[in-house]
Amino acid sequence: MAKVAWVLGGGSGIGAETVKQLSQRGWTVAISGRREQPLHALSVSHGARPYPLDVTDFEAVKATVGRISEDLGKIDLVIFSVAAWEVTKPGRYDYESYAKIIDANLLGAMRVIDPVVAQMRRQGFGEIALVASVAGYFGLPRSAAYSSGKSAMITLAETMRTELAADNISVRLICPGFVKTDLTAKNDFPMPFLMEAEDAGKRIADGLLNSRKFEIAFPLPFVLILKTIRLLPYPVFFTLMSRLISQPSK
Ligand SMILES: NC(=O)c1ccc[n+]([C@@H]2O[C@H](COP(=O)([O-])OP(=O)(O)OC[C@H]3O[C@@H](n4cnc5c(N)ncnc54)[C@H](OP(=O)(O)O)[C@@H]3O)[C@@H](O)[C@H]2O)c1
Repeated sequence: MAKVAWVLGGGSGIGAETVKQLSQRGWTVAISGRREQPLHALSVSHGARPYPLDVTDFEAVKATVGRISEDLGKIDLVIFSVAAWEVTKPGRYDYESYAKIIDANLLGAMRVIDPVVAQMRRQGFGEIALVASVAGYFGLPRSAAYSSGKSAMITLAETMRTELAADNISVRLICPGFVKTDLTAKNDFPMPFLMEAEDAGKRIADGLLNSRKFEIAFPLPFVLILKTIRLLPYPVFFTLMSRLISQPSK
């Protein structure tokens, strides 16, 4: 019986490229997102099963977990690749825009995790992969809501990894650097080590299917630089960040 994955945010960007990789490797893939058109396109091109969904609607999330489990018999792997993102002006903390980002990126994942864990406990196995970001390693200027939400997602995944091991549910963390997608098309600042979405999808599929490691992070040089910055003493860290923030936009 083919393995079953559910990719949220699977209609575009990194999620869509991961869907293509999994389909090519023989998986049955359910895909979700709010827009039906990109889901339909992937259903035609790669045989993915569309389940349109807004992750801010908890009742709809629970119903979708039920439908996928019933239609496909089980859920081996869930990949949460949803994101809302807006470039924020340094020093502006607009609640409405922040709430929208956290609602989709962090609370959206929490709405999914709850019924998915229940389903995986019933079936006795499963794997949950949360797509966070290297932007969650520390508080990045110009992305306070996005960066803090991703940071919370990293600690959420760490907690879940420890707590769910006894249930035979493996939790994985995916931290990409800059990837060329609709999301980053909005960026007006330099994006070092920018990579193609197809490459990101391949690295994610390889990492999930060919290794057991907790974190799948790429590209390695960028990841190492950022992890090193995280370890700097605060006076050095803030000097560096203030230089970053004073860099002109493109
Ligand atoms: N691109 C990068 O440089 C980069 C770097 C690090 C991490 N990431 C992470 O990678 C993941 C994928 O991002 P991406 O770059 O591939 O951007 P993307 O193409 O814009 O993908 C985001 C997906 O989220 C879906 N989505 C947004 N709000 C939703 C909601 N309320 N309910 C359901 N689906 C929703 C979108 O579909 P609909 O609009 O149809 O709902 C879209 O398919 C995100 O978690 C992002 O934070 C990206």
